[in-house]
Order: sequence, then C-alpha cells, then structure tokens
Amino acid sequence: MKFHVRTMTADDVAAGMHLKTTAGWNQTEADWHRFLASHPTGSFVAEFAGEVVGTVTTIAYGTRLAWIGMMLVDPAHRRQGIGESLMKAALEDLEKRDIRAIGLDATPMGRPLYERLGFRARSELNRWAWNRQASAIAPEPPSRTPGAIDLKSLLDQDSEVFGADRSALIRSFVETRPERFVVSSLGASRPDYGLTRPGTVADHIGAWVADEPTGAAAVLEALVGRSSAPRMIADVPSDHPFAGRLLHASGFRIARDLTRMYRGPWETPPLAGDVCAILGPEFG
Ligand SMILES: CC(C)(COP(=O)(O)OP(=O)(O)OC[C@H]1O[C@@H](n2cnc3c(N)ncnc32)[C@H](O)[C@@H]1OP(=O)(O)O)[C@@H](O)C(=O)NCCC(=O)NCCS
Repeated sequence: MKFHVRTMTADDVAAGMHLKTTAGWNQTEADWHRFLASHPTGSFVAEFAGEVVGTVTTIAYGTRLAWIGMMLVDPAHRRQGIGESLMKAALEDLEKRDIRAIGLDATPMGRPLYERLGFRARSELNRWAWNRQASAIAPEPPSRTPGAIDLKSLLDQDSEVFGADRSALIRSFVETRPERFVVSSLGASRPDYGLTRPGTVADHIGAWVADEPTGAAAVLEALVGRSSAPRMIADVPSDHPFAGRLLHASGFRIARDLTRMYRGPWETPPLAGDVCAILGPEFG
C-alpha cells in the first residue's frame, strides 16, 4: 500500500496536533485553523491506510510571499518520499496562485529536502528558551482590553520589516489576546513592538521588533512580565547585534538552530535589521 497526498481540512487538525506533539512542537489548534483560514485548499496531508501520517501548511501574504510550515512526517513513515510529495503539492498550489517568493525556516532534518526543491539558505536563526521557576507559573490571566495603540501604522511598519503584508495574521493574534501585544515609544526612530503567542509547551515571543537596545529591552521585559507560562521561546537572527545579548541577560539560552530559506525572487526588506525575533518558523 502507498500513501497519498490530499488537501487538509479542519477534520485533520487533531491528527496534525498529534504529529506536532510527537515532534515536541508548540502549535495550538488555533494555529492550524489560521493556515486553513488563510487559504482553505493551501495545506496538505499525506494519508496511509486511512491515517494521516504527514502534514504541510502554507500561508500567503498577498502574492509577494508565502510561508511553508508544519512539515511533519510520522517517524514510522519517514524516508519514503512523503515529505517530498507534501512539499511538491504545496509548491504546485502556490505556483498556481502566482506567489512570487516562498520562504520557510528549516530544521537540520528538513534542510536537505528543501535544497533539493530549489530553496536557498539566507540566514540562520537561534531558538532561545527559558524555563520559568515553578513557583512563578500561573494560569493565563483573563484577557484585558488594550490601551490606545495605533495598530494600523504599526502594521504598516511591520510590512516594511517583514517585506510583505502579514497584518491580518498579526491582527488575529492581537485581537485574541491584546494584553500580549506590547508597544514602546523608546525606539530611536520608530515605535518598538512585540507579542507573545500561546503554545502548547511555551509562550512564543515574536514578532519582536526594535531599532535599538533600550526599547527592545523594554518590550522584552514587558512580554516576559505578562506571561506566566512554564517556558518561553524566541527565534532570533543569529547575527542580530543585541537581541541575543538581551535574552541571555534575562536567563534565556540557545536551544537549537534553524535556517531561513527562500525560493524565488526575494529581496531583503528595508527594515529587516529591526527584527529581534521572527513571528515564528511556521508563519515567517
Ligand atoms: C523532515 C521530514 C519532514 C522529512 O520527511 P520524509 O517523509 O522523511 O522526507 P522524504 O522521505 O521525502 O526525504 C527524506 C530522505 O529520505 C530519502 N528517501 C525518500 N524516499 C526514499 C525511499 N523510498 N527509500 C530510501 N530513502 C528515501 C530522501 O532521498 C531523503 O534523503 P536525505 O536524507 O538525503 O534528505 C521528517 O524527517 C520530519 O518530520 N522530521 C521532524 C520534523 C522536522 O524537522 N520537519 C522539518 C521542518 S523544517
């Protein structure tokens, strides 16, 4: 019997959650639904004997850039071409939609597969992690109404930092948990901002954006202070001039590395240097 690849539906989210838990990843059911909401036929599963044994998701930011994530194959079914078939289905779909560039953040396991499919490494990321003392772990407090922030202009700034418009996605995080979105006016020329996303094993810091260390530190401190999760993580460009130093001073340590890769025409965006932490490997 051979596996087959088909479009992912909402009914596959439970199987996706099982695969990501097996891999020790952090995504929530809401994250899977975000991919499906972005394009209902843009994510795929591999099925073997009626069971979902692999997943891949895509999320498009206009036609300029799409991001591939959640590339997971059940350990019992690896090295049979399932990963490659899933990637090909995702790429074919994105090509039909005229998406110009495609990005992803590769684990060392995934990187050879992506290189074979034309992705090229652009930069390295360090995954920083910190475990909160057991006595400080608390349940998530109820959601609070945000203070006055000019979200529209921050989202415009975010498009310049990221190089594509991911405002709908960021808005969905901010609107779900407004108190997890922090803005600082200490930035040298622009506001600094950051958010944390809840995960199943950690609160994920990012996007974290600042053009100088003082504002970056203020945003980080507020994000850490507003979280009570047992673990916090952040994915930071390894050549960033100060983000790693700030995390290290707060007790974070490097847990693993990822490689940011692109396929297609991709220019580094004008404010890319402001990225202290990416939104996440599954979102870009
Ligand atoms: C990365 C991952 C998705 C790859 O899935 P996979 O189904 O094993 O991928 P493929 O089978 O297409 O390719 C894997 C390897 O098997 C080889 N292979 C494919 N079919 C094969 C077959 N029939 N017999 C022997 N080897 C085979 C491929 O050539 C490839 O070799 P490589 O080691 O040189 O890259 C999987 O290992 C995984 O889920 N890892 C954990 C999560 C992770 O890191 N995901 C990537 C995130 S970026």
